[in-house]
Amino acid sequence: MNLDKVEAEDLHAFARDLAVKNFGREIYIRGLIEISTYCKSNCYYCGLRLANKNTKRLRLSKEEILDLASYSVDLGIKTIVMQGGEDDFYSLDYLKEIIYHIKEKFPDVAITLSLGERDFQDFEALKNMGADRHLLRHETYSKSHYQRLHPSSMKFENRIDSILKLKDLGFQTGCGMMVGSPYQRLENLYEDLKFILKLRPQMVGIGPFIPQHDTPFRDFEGGKLEDVLKILYIVRIADEKLLLPSTTALGSIDEFGREKGILAGANVLMPNVGAEKLRKNYKLYDNKIGTEVQNSDDFMGLEKKLEKIGYKISKSRGDYK
Ligand code: 5AD
Ligand code: SF4
Repeated sequence: MNLDKVEAEDLHAFARDLAVKNFGREIYIRGLIEISTYCKSNCYYCGLRLANKNTKRLRLSKEEILDLASYSVDLGIKTIVMQGGEDDFYSLDYLKEIIYHIKEKFPDVAITLSLGERDFQDFEALKNMGADRHLLRHETYSKSHYQRLHPSSMKFENRIDSILKLKDLGFQTGCGMMVGSPYQRLENLYEDLKFILKLRPQMVGIGPFIPQHDTPFRDFEGGKLEDVLKILYIVRIADEKLLLPSTTALGSIDEFGREKGILAGANVLMPNVGAEKLRKNYKLYDNKIGTEVQNSDDFMGLEKKLEKIGYKISKSRGDYK
């Protein structure tokens, strides 16, 4: 045996084969609806941070969200992701109503929440109302690194406890981190991996850090494509059944970033089915690509992109198996 000859490309292929073994050459599609650019938090890396006065704040009403959910289902999408900043406008009752109406109309559609930290009682009530999945990136499993990425009002312990709680409540739970975030060291990524293996989440969101010009991290370098792909294939090899998105951030640093992510073992895409007014202002980082599927033509465009690399869109809801 000669391990000298093992190249990154072999590892991409190995990870990809594991994904194909578990999911076929099919990619799960999640319809992403950005619901709010308001945020009460101040993460140093993100353009939606409260202190950023140069971003337009907008949010969607219940009615608008329900319309977009309907439209997404019409396209054949069976998971709806509601994503937004930490916005108190969305009270527990308001969110419960949205979930209730989506589930009433489309009982077979999965609902994913990605709205940041909340009270644990809220998480429980939302689960009981029928929300199926919850994304909350841990961002880093190092407390000292976490504190360098966030103001002191944001607590590492609460972030981790929230993720454990979500998992406990029975949500299909996603954690995740940026690759190449400021002050990140190799050992931080190693700790992230150990955390993933201990938590056993159903999903892990991984993308490059990308500087945003109105944040304290504007002058830092962004994460590199090759580094993100490495972490993706390592995570895929570590857990072959994980739901692993090829993220918009990855597609934003390389024209074929999302395709390359799939070829390194990712198996999920989250195109934007949301409202244009939100999309225009939902700028976590600079040069974010549009991933919108506004009509069936766009949806076919996405299908074509996948066909080019030998994949197709899965028709299933894409639950964790
Ligand atoms: N670059 C890349 N990803 C970012 N996020 C926020 N800001 C940035 C940025 N500048 C990610 C964080 C957050 C998710 C919603 O988006 O990991 O959890
Ligand atoms: Fe708010 Fe999320 Fe951006 Fe942090 S990453 S500022 S919580 S939208």
